[in-house]
Amino acid sequence: MIDAALTGALREARHVMVLTGAGISAESGIPTFRDALTGLWSRYRAEDLATPEAFARDPGLVWDWYAWRRERVRAAQPNPGHRAIHALASLVPRLTLVTQNVDGLHQRAGSRNVIELHGNILRTRCSHEDRIVEEGPGGTGRPPRCADCGAFLRPDVVWFGEPLPAEALRGAAEAASACDVLLVVGTSGLVYPAAGLPGVARAAGVPVILVDPQAVSLAGQTGVRHLVGPAGRVLPALLARVWPDSAPPALPAIS
Ligand code: OAD
Repeated sequence: MIDAALTGALREARHVMVLTGAGISAESGIPTFRDALTGLWSRYRAEDLATPEAFARDPGLVWDWYAWRRERVRAAQPNPGHRAIHALASLVPRLTLVTQNVDGLHQRAGSRNVIELHGNILRTRCSHEDRIVEEGPGGTGRPPRCADCGAFLRPDVVWFGEPLPAEALRGAAEAASACDVLLVVGTSGLVYPAAGLPGVARAAGVPVILVDPQAVSLAGQTGVRHLVGPAGRVLPALLARVWPDSAPPALPAIS
């Protein structure tokens, strides 16, 4: 329920942090990871596709799987949830947007300075020199090679067992402890270190608003308000309630 305490916290906040996961892009047709039946990890094994060992063992399989995901991302459009977060940036004095997603849909909705904790599937880098490169010609079953050193190219994403980009993680942790409200949207909260960010906020006394159709583990914790439902419906309604006069007209009012 969106009550006065919640609307007041958001209206008075000078710095809002938003942490998103796969759920924010679900309504754009991008599958989440752990939803039953449709989640990627319900259908594929992460160990076979999203680890450095998997890439060393079968680079073609990993490359092709990411190429398939990349095509889905390219064909997708940002949804009202992404657009509401973009709109929020113009309604609060400061917004830090941190995402675990690699799909770039926040940026395509207009958001700027997005902290990407797990990289971006639309970028390619050299697997040897870790340099971002333009993707050369490739073919099914084998990644393209780096024009400079000849090593295989790989998607610029974080695989299991790899460290997160240090600067991104530092920025996210700083914002989590310094913000006035943390909005957590569409993440199961199972993958660390991103999953630790709400704990950083709660330890600093920051109120947390969770938007998720499911009762994820963060839902029951002290200092956490859970708005149950899909982000594309809940976030526009939340903005319309908190800023009835200045929320963009495209956002529907809550019934
Ligand atoms: P998960 O698939 O683990 O969780 C997605 C969350 O989104 C669940 O809590 C769903 O209930 C929720 N959800 C589904 N539809 C939604 C909607 N329309 N609106 C809001 N929420 C919705 O995805 P993440 O938590 O993002 O990492 O997964 C974290 C990381 O695990 C990913 O970044 C990825 C994955 O393995 C790597 O690949 C390194």
